[in-house]
Amino acid sequence: MDFKLLLGVVLCMLLPLDAKAQAPPGTFVNECRDRYFWMTTKSSFLIGGTFRFDIIGNDGIHSLDDAYSASCGFTYSVNIPGDLIFRASFLACHVSSNSDSEFSLRFRIVRIDQFSRETYYPFSMTCSTTKQWYPREIVCEENYMEAQEAIMSVWQVVFHKTGQPAKSMNASLAQSWGYMINSTSTRILFRSPYNMPESEMLTVNGIQVEAIRQLSSTSKDIGTFDGTHLAWVAPRVLTPLVLHIEKFQDKDIAMGVDGKLLDPATIRRRNYELKVNETFVEISVPYGAEGGYLKSRVLNNQYNRIYAIDLYLEHQWADDLWEVTQHRSFKPVRTPSIAETPFVVNNTIPAEKVFTVTLGIFNPDVELKNFTINGVPLTLPEAVNQGIVLTEVQHPNGTKSFVLKVPFTHPLIPQKYIGNGVREFTLNINYTLNIIPENEPYFHPATIVCQIKDVGKYWGWEVSLSAD
Ligand SMILES: *[C@@H]1O[C@H](CO)[C@@H](O)[C@H](O)[C@H]1NC(C)=O
Ligand SMILES: *[C@@H]1O[C@H](CO)[C@@H](O)[C@H](O)[C@H]1NC(C)=O
Ligand SMILES: *[C@@H]1O[C@H](CO)[C@@H](O)[C@H](O)[C@H]1NC(C)=O
Ligand SMILES: *[C@@H]1O[C@H](CO)[C@@H](O)[C@H](O)[C@H]1NC(C)=O
Ligand SMILES: *[C@@H]1O[C@H](CO)[C@@H](O)[C@H](O)[C@H]1NC(C)=O
Ligand SMILES: *[C@@H]1O[C@H](CO)[C@@H](O)[C@H](O)[C@H]1NC(C)=O
Ligand SMILES: *[C@@H]1O[C@H](CO)[C@@H](O)[C@H](O)[C@H]1NC(C)=O
Repeated sequence: MDFKLLLGVVLCMLLPLDAKAQAPPGTFVNECRDRYFWMTTKSSFLIGGTFRFDIIGNDGIHSLDDAYSASCGFTYSVNIPGDLIFRASFLACHVSSNSDSEFSLRFRIVRIDQFSRETYYPFSMTCSTTKQWYPREIVCEENYMEAQEAIMSVWQVVFHKTGQPAKSMNASLAQSWGYMINSTSTRILFRSPYNMPESEMLTVNGIQVEAIRQLSSTSKDIGTFDGTHLAWVAPRVLTPLVLHIEKFQDKDIAMGVDGKLLDPATIRRRNYELKVNETFVEISVPYGAEGGYLKSRVLNNQYNRIYAIDLYLEHQWADDLWEVTQHRSFKPVRTPSIAETPFVVNNTIPAEKVFTVTLGIFNPDVELKNFTINGVPLTLPEAVNQGIVLTEVQHPNGTKSFVLKVPFTHPLIPQKYIGNGVREFTLNINYTLNIIPENEPYFHPATIVCQIKDVGKYWGWEVSLSAD
């Protein structure tokens, strides 16, 4: 009885702790970034379950879905290596602000296991602006566009629909359509998800928002690839934002990756290029360059790779309306799947009486599962037990190759005496590789034939074997 009571108390104390679980160190990394809260979650945390973000507001808990995230200023996506990236604008819903210079956000990541059990990992972040707000700021995020500016005495949102007279709109009506209009003590804010119905057009203080959205909409434009470089081209002057082009003046154009600017030395070292002319800004990145990610794919048993990089562009200009406008773009770009047939190299030295075969070159996301030798399947431990040596060679650029050494005398290697003291050994391999974490199998065959002269001299015991 006493024991049961005690147990009950212990359970009650444990349960809340259990639900607010601890993850291994390094699972979550939080950072205050310029204009947004940032968090990355390690891919290992996501394996075997799903996840959800909940924003904790004064009025309760709001679970993020695509529509709510886009109208409220939250972005989350899984990048190529499988890590979960979360960004929240300083002006996102439920962010509390102290005179537009200090911002606090409370949220939690919810992990849902295969039995639909939820585990909560709560976070509370407070960040300050490192740079003063520019008079006008625009951000083109992956899932929304946000514009905000210093409060002018009057501001208004006008809604145009084809075939209907333009009408002024109040914030709550705009909100019911998925837009967000709000003001803080010093700024007015407008946010619009991409892919809103095309028949609608909105102007905020006389500026066409739909046009800006179309210019910056990321849905289709994933960059262009010419075989060596992955490039993204953006208009230099966003005409709906700049009314008189002759008054337009660039103040600064800078690039970065993963939402952070890079210093010129790093940009040079990685061979990135930022090109600006009259009409366009172009960022160009060599295939495979540091800062991006290579991902393996298998399509119809053809090995392919994709190179992807999350570009970031920051542009400040002056025009007739605003002393400075800062425009920031988050731009994930990727190459199409590029077929890259792995190659087999025969490194056999006959005198060693061992087949040496190299198969490469693969991304780190490729593992060797097993293989067959002359049709007989072998697991890796079985192969090692039978005197087959398998080595994974790491290249300095992060790629790898597999080296297999099979003795000529291995029982699975057929040998044929072909006359003139020459004996022929044949190795047929069928490699089973696996792409992680997707578990896509890829098979690669290899055949190595080796003839050895002077069999009598070096292989006397075999000559006597074949004599009977
Ligand atoms: C906003 O406009 C709509 C439609 O004109 C109206 O029904 C609603 O009452 C207005 N809301 C506010 C808060 O003014
Ligand atoms: C608008 O901003 C105020 C504070 O500036 C905030 O209390 C309110 O929740 C915001 N409305 C929405 C819908 O985000
Ligand atoms: C400006 O740059 C773009 C993108 O790099 C290019 O396509 C275009 O030809 C350039 N225009 C001029 C006038 O150089
Ligand atoms: C080799 O690995 C693949 C992928 O894991 C698996 O489906 C297959 O059964 C394995 N074959 C042998 C012989 O172990
Ligand atoms: C990585 O290094 C290997 C071996 O030096 C080379 O063959 C391969 O082309 C390199 N791959 C990339 C993407 O640079
Ligand atoms: C290698 O194994 C796979 C899976 O069993 C099979 O589909 C493929 O035909 C084999 N390739 C060769 C050359 O034997
Ligand atoms: C593999 O290399 C050995 C040694 O150079 C050579 O004797 C043999 O013919 C080669 N086999 C194939 C299939 O290329």
